[in-house]
Amino acid sequence: MKALITVIIITSFSLSFTSGSTAQTQVQSNTLDANSRSEGELNSQSINSLEMQANEKIKQFSGQLKTVLVGAIQAEGFASAVKVCKEQAPEIAKSVSKDGWTLARTSLKTRNAANKPDAWEQEKLQDFDKKFKEGVSPNQLSAIDVNENRFRYMKAIPTGQVCLACHGSNVEPSLKATTDKNYPNDKAIGYTLEDIRGAFTLRKSL
Ligand code: HEC
Repeated sequence: MKALITVIIITSFSLSFTSGSTAQTQVQSNTLDANSRSEGELNSQSINSLEMQANEKIKQFSGQLKTVLVGAIQAEGFASAVKVCKEQAPEIAKSVSKDGWTLARTSLKTRNAANKPDAWEQEKLQDFDKKFKEGVSPNQLSAIDVNENRFRYMKAIPTGQVCLACHGSNVEPSLKATTDKNYPNDKAIGYTLEDIRGAFTLRKSL
């Protein structure tokens, strides 16, 4: 039984965390969406290259977080994994943030208020939600904003099965208590499968 649960956890993590890597072609076509980008001076070849670098950073972050999170859930259960999220997610984001890049996660309903969106991020998150409700797959939702000084990129994060344990509507009471203790202003619950949980948000100085 334990082995079966482990398999389910790993499978659903793979599904929810690997979307960034398979979405490259979708992202390419999405960049043609005039609503999601404003290009300024850069030519489209440089933008494509920056977009690929951003997706590479997302892959690195997701891969590393998945490894530590699955390890923690398997070893000690979801409640201990809350600590992993709290400590490791920002650490991993910091370690991926190099070569002029910064990577973070944001959401319209944050668990950690430090992840709150700025004006551009808020607008794009609302736009992602709107398109999602119109039937667009979360894996196809990304946005770019470029000026001569910096490149910004956002990519929607869908809610996978395993995320529901900590972000769903039926969070197990002791897990909810652990979360509330660590995050008294938690707003990141009540999600259902496939909902947009938030977005990766990246920035590079040019
Ligand atoms: C073990 C519980 C747990 C699981 C499972 C979990 N998360 Fe979280 N999540 C957290 C915690 C704790 C934070 C706050 C991290 C911090 O302090 O930066 C968080 C933060 C986030 C954030 C940053 C925005 C915010 O709300 O502060 C996103 C986005 C996110 N999670 C998405 C996901 C997705 C997608 C999954 C499934 C693939 C997932 N989480 C699975 C506990 C969990």
